[in-house]
Amino acid sequence: MHLAVLASGYGSNLQAIINAVQSREIDGRVVVVISDQSDAFALQRARNKGIEALFIDPSLFSGREAYDREIVSQLQRREVELVILAGFMRLLSSHFVKEFKYRIMNIHPSLLPAFPGLDGVKQALAYSVKVSGCTVHFVDEGLDTGPIILQEAVNVYDSDTEDSLLLRIHTVEHRLYPRAVQLLIKGKLKMDGRRCLVDES
Ligand code: GRF
Repeated sequence: MHLAVLASGYGSNLQAIINAVQSREIDGRVVVVISDQSDAFALQRARNKGIEALFIDPSLFSGREAYDREIVSQLQRREVELVILAGFMRLLSSHFVKEFKYRIMNIHPSLLPAFPGLDGVKQALAYSVKVSGCTVHFVDEGLDTGPIILQEAVNVYDSDTEDSLLLRIHTVEHRLYPRAVQLLIKGKLKMDGRRCLVDES
């Protein structure tokens, strides 16, 4: 299966996906990495592995919809079947979401629906939660509102800082995201209304 990863920044989740492809834990191939930031380290990670790295400059487009149409056409040109958002800091237009219905995944550093949007980790600490975690979900037009695919919890300790909690969550993300991708590739994710059921057999 042709996979695309969209990332705006550091790309540690992209790296986890690339590694899982290499070790055959994911039966697919990352055919392109797309970023809205020219200096995203994620683009460098792609180049290091000989994967096509594409910077698409949002300032060249009249708005979100026009920008997304360009991304969709680049994805279609490469026969991409699954779009993996990995720290991509833009909301997707309904055009994009409709073209790839239940074919766009995102990962978020909290147990959704708690603490959506920016700074999920900071919000969780400010709320004094004792358990947080990460969530892989399908993307809809909302902000972190799509059907949840997988979640995993981590403890939050009194001694935690944003950095220490983020680190603990990232470690789980790097395991959870490749697993979710492979479940989709293997046809193990079934939608039942708005629920995403996971066939673990
Ligand atoms: C991750 O924490 C993910 O949950 C959030 O953005 C961050 C991206 O990190 N959506 P990285 O660029 O993959 O290192």
